[in-house]
Amino acid sequence: MSDIFDFDQRKDQYAVMGNPISHSKSPHIHSMFAAQTGQRLEYTAIQVDPGGFPQAVGNFDAAGGKGLNITVPFKQEAWALVNERSERAERAGAVNTIKFDGKTLYGDNTDGVGLVQDLTVNNHIALQGKSILLMGAGGASRGVLAPLLAQGPAGITIANRTVDRAVELAETFADLGNVHGCGFAELEGQQFDVVINATAASLQGDLPPLPDDILGSNACCYDMMYGAKPTTFMQWAASKGAVSVLDGLGMLVEQAAESFLLWRDVRPETRPVIDKLRQEMAG
Ligand code: ATR
Repeated sequence: MSDIFDFDQRKDQYAVMGNPISHSKSPHIHSMFAAQTGQRLEYTAIQVDPGGFPQAVGNFDAAGGKGLNITVPFKQEAWALVNERSERAERAGAVNTIKFDGKTLYGDNTDGVGLVQDLTVNNHIALQGKSILLMGAGGASRGVLAPLLAQGPAGITIANRTVDRAVELAETFADLGNVHGCGFAELEGQQFDVVINATAASLQGDLPPLPDDILGSNACCYDMMYGAKPTTFMQWAASKGAVSVLDGLGMLVEQAAESFLLWRDVRPETRPVIDKLRQEMAG
């Protein structure tokens, strides 16, 4: 990683930090947002070595940087590093957005609101009164639980391969709504309106061990992962008759729009950006 930033001083500077970072779509997304809203800014991708995160953030701040997105594996470290956190970042235990104002490092987490926006606004899936199954009990699940519960679902069941992690995670959020943690075997005989895959299983082309008849009528299945082709979970969902089968591309763009809003006080239109990315991925 380069420690010396040679910024174009005429433009406000933003970046995403992570490792690996070369495939990040964030610079492309934020450039489209900037063009659309007429904002003068530059957004780059910075690969950070393990152990080098605090230094990299300090250097970016010292060089006059205005804001950062943080991705794998530094979101928890970012949470610990910032001086102030939004309520949703506090709850998530992870920060994906930092705003610099000269003195403080303000940390937010826009992942959960990004997922909720994509479900409820882009895809018209109301969550109020619904039974939700959230698969996985890692950082991805933790980041979205509070915004999902804020929608007033009937309940959220967290299912995980390592059962203890699901039970512990559910306990952490129990004050915000009806949340229950369990293993996949315990799902037998239950049905859900919305099933969200927050496991890393799709990365390996794996499917979490779901019972066959878990989808209610009109069920929506959402994979937080995305790719040129439907994930294994999305293929499974389609074969089981899910009415909506969605990937995480919309969530990616929505969380970016929420970061942009925090930094620039303007929320870009997301639909044209989602459509453009979808086209590019297909081509
Ligand atoms: P993240 O921050 O992306 O959530 P993580 O904290 O490593 O990453 O968590 C990954 C999640 O995916 C965990 O819930 C993990 O289950 P375990 O807690 O039992 O490890 C889940 N996961 C990963 N690979 C999986 C697979 N092949 N099948 C089912 N669950 C899987």
